[in-house]
Amino acid sequence: MTVDHPGSEGAGSPLPARRDTRLDPYIGTYAERTHGMTASAVRALFAVANRPEVVSLAGGMPNIADLPLESLGGAIARLVAEHGTRAMQYGAGQGEPVLRAQICEVMAEEAISAHPDDVVVSVGSQQGLALLTQVFCDPGDVILCEAPSYVGALGVFRTYQTQVVHVAMDADGLDPIALREAIASCRAAGKKIKFIYTIPNFHNPAGISQPLERRREILAIAKSEGILIVEDNPYGLLGFDSEPTPAIRSLDDGAVVYLGSFSKTFAPGFRIGWILAPHAIKEKLVLAQESATLCPPVFSQYTISAYLQNFDWRGQIKKSRELYRERRDAMLAGLQAHMPPGTSWTRPGGGFFVWLTIPAPLDAEAMLPRAVTARVAYVPGNAFYADGLGTRHMRLSYCLPTPDQIIEGTRRLAEVMGNELSINAIFSNPGRPRALHPYEAPGPDQR
Ligand SMILES: Cc1ncc(COP(=O)(O)O)c(C=O)c1O
Repeated sequence: MTVDHPGSEGAGSPLPARRDTRLDPYIGTYAERTHGMTASAVRALFAVANRPEVVSLAGGMPNIADLPLESLGGAIARLVAEHGTRAMQYGAGQGEPVLRAQICEVMAEEAISAHPDDVVVSVGSQQGLALLTQVFCDPGDVILCEAPSYVGALGVFRTYQTQVVHVAMDADGLDPIALREAIASCRAAGKKIKFIYTIPNFHNPAGISQPLERRREILAIAKSEGILIVEDNPYGLLGFDSEPTPAIRSLDDGAVVYLGSFSKTFAPGFRIGWILAPHAIKEKLVLAQESATLCPPVFSQYTISAYLQNFDWRGQIKKSRELYRERRDAMLAGLQAHMPPGTSWTRPGGGFFVWLTIPAPLDAEAMLPRAVTARVAYVPGNAFYADGLGTRHMRLSYCLPTPDQIIEGTRRLAEVMGNELSINAIFSNPGRPRALHPYEAPGPDQR
């Protein structure tokens, strides 16, 4: 049997003609919260960045080509034959008990001790972010976020009309002094802080990680101030050189909500992530999950459960780490070889991303069309700030292109930057370079 993708060549019947108009008779009827909904820079980029001639250092898609697809196919066929009537039925709002128990084993790799009753399965960790924000935040509430921060989280926070207050990072991640200052100034202004959102491992987009001591410091601040920590950790098992650093949640089970995901360590298409939360918060999250989806996708949960039970998932993650390490090395070598003076970058110990700081007066957002014309794509830094800052930065990802493509991509990018710098030198008054905002300052581990 063949299945035509809708719109693909060979689809059975012709598609009806579309009446395409930009006039929207419902323009006055949308909810206030939709005003904050804009297409992310990443999404707008995918259209051009996916052209074969472009080296895309833009997307954050995991490399899943090395998954054992054939034997996975066999396992899925057996699943349908043997358990299809349960796997394709509605399930529990909190997620399937078997998978929740297996998720606890996965989290044990990062020293987390958890009970399956405290786990809520979500539609990717992206939905975990949405459920948490829905449960905690009213319009105007403050969420403290690293600067820069994950673009998908910022989108959720905007949709729920919260106020993101950025907190500077240094080479060890979220800066405790800046965190204390941000809390004090929000409180002085009478604002309600609902949680601290942090990505402690192989940060998206900054590519840096919090050492254990830093995690302890942040936790101590959060506890002394009575503020919840939301620890978002999709990349924690993808470290290149050492054993995983214990999660913040492993240090305290009452002050931290932990978000995990199978998207980066297995496959994002199943859309399965999870939230580990203190009991009372978990109860609210289950209600929110039931009203959002009735239950997270049961078939995906069964598939992932079968994968964890019957495949060497730890060995597969080890393979992925080797693959990403080789690509990280290619990225660092390419940057070292080609970047113009005045450029600095982070050196990730795992995950997918390098954060580049480009010389003044370059502007990563303004330069992007020229870069795409030169057949290289990246994500401009301002996508990762709620306040429009960050144009002196860009996120480069090394997860999907081959090492040769990565090196060629850095060469093309450096050429575009070099051209821009020369043109600027000719046409602009040398003047003073624009000052970096305090939380744009490059960290000490950057060149
Ligand atoms: C930091 C971070 N959190 C959450 C997500 C969402 O992942 P998913 O919904 O696929 O689990 C991503 C995806 O890129 C991410 O980088």
